[in-house]
Amino acid sequence: MTDFQLIKLALEAREMAYTPYSHHKVGAALLSTDGTVFKGCNVENAGYTPTNCAERTAVFKAVSEGHKEFTAIAIVGGMDNLKTLPLCAPCGVCRQVLREFVNPESFKVLLAEVEGVDDLDSVTEDMVHITTMTLSELLPLGFGPENLVH
Ligand code: THU
Repeated sequence: MTDFQLIKLALEAREMAYTPYSHHKVGAALLSTDGTVFKGCNVENAGYTPTNCAERTAVFKAVSEGHKEFTAIAIVGGMDNLKTLPLCAPCGVCRQVLREFVNPESFKVLLAEVEGVDDLDSVTEDMVHITTMTLSELLPLGFGPENLVH
């Protein structure tokens, strides 16, 4: 699985985003250590606060299917009328949810800016600019499961 392939899966996931309120569509593709990829999109709600981000959708899908070890996540997002997606960094809640299941020093967060998202089949590698960060760079000094060990 290349970084570009994982980005393409995140773009596919973004197509499913349910965003009648913000019109901001996000897609995520979470790579498990065994190679399985879980896709997630944001799912909004008329009550606003029950909204689930794309990244958490992917994590919860994976964990509920028995996968708890991950090496990377690709994230794409932007308003639904854009043909070029800006970089979309995960919110603080999603950073914390990822922190639960990954090694923050090695887990890679791939943030992609993408041109021409209106036709996914024609998105090529040169249309994608990827910023790669570790989770610990995005969530320094994070609080994790090891803090609750006796
Ligand atoms: N959103 C995500 O799904 N992931 C992010 O990383 C940032 C924000 C969603 C939540 C909401 O549906 C919309 O984008 C606007 O905040």
